[in-house]
Amino acid sequence: MSVHSQAQRVTVPQLVSCKGTRKIAALTAYIAPIARMLDEALDMLLVGDSTAMVGYALPDTLSITVDTMAAHAAAVVRATEHACVIVDMPFGSYQRSPEQAFANAASMLAASGVSGVKLEGGQPLAETTRFLVDRGVPVLAHVGLMPQYVHTMGGFKAQGMTDAAARRIMEDARAHAQAGAFGVVLEGISEPLGREITQALSIPTIGIGASPACDGQILVTEDILGLSGDRIPKFAQRFADAGQVIRQAAQDYAQSVREGSFPTLAHCFGVKAGKP
Ligand code: KIV
Repeated sequence: MSVHSQAQRVTVPQLVSCKGTRKIAALTAYIAPIARMLDEALDMLLVGDSTAMVGYALPDTLSITVDTMAAHAAAVVRATEHACVIVDMPFGSYQRSPEQAFANAASMLAASGVSGVKLEGGQPLAETTRFLVDRGVPVLAHVGLMPQYVHTMGGFKAQGMTDAAARRIMEDARAHAQAGAFGVVLEGISEPLGREITQALSIPTIGIGASPACDGQILVTEDILGLSGDRIPKFAQRFADAGQVIRQAAQDYAQSVREGSFPTLAHCFGVKAGKP
């Protein structure tokens, strides 16, 4: 990467300075062609462990590995030059100890060139956030609905619906902010809670099914592009139907092959001006 293109990429401090100034627009990206198309418009691209479900058709995010996440992250970094790229720490790669978290975060940063990591967890993981930040790894915390806790939560359910649960999530977010996280993803929580956390913290909140008041928003790209089937989550919105465009292109291609209109001699090697 050139010095020039490095200077163009949104930095973690620039994301932090968006708080109270302008909204952070973020999406997920797992592979180069999509990342390339999203790059210019977005402040942040998250190489989310949701690729386990979206890209690998797995039932949850639990089985994706550090090596797989690092490979996706490296592809996204190579394909982009503007957006700040953050990678998810996969399940089991950071919960054992802060030292384990640092070893895995450092290897993903070194292998991919991302600018930071995201980790899911409440107050017990704040010590890990502190450990990473103190050692030069920017951390985006993720509280509320935490997909890696699917079995603890008993499914992918909105969180913080009682006063006690809402208080706990507020304390989770505060703990990571105090530990040095540069931002916090608020997923699947009640709207008033999303608003309250955003007002209480001095770091940006990035909502997904949280509140319009959050300092930024993130969605799974396939949900906004119509690439994730007929059902989209309540908190998402389809901004294009790329699925229909791709289905039509596949039909047109298959028909051209079957009727013999593709390929022509113009697509062949060893022929001059379309003649055999
Ligand atoms: O893995 C993911 O894609 C995420 C976001 C959608 C926040 O964690």
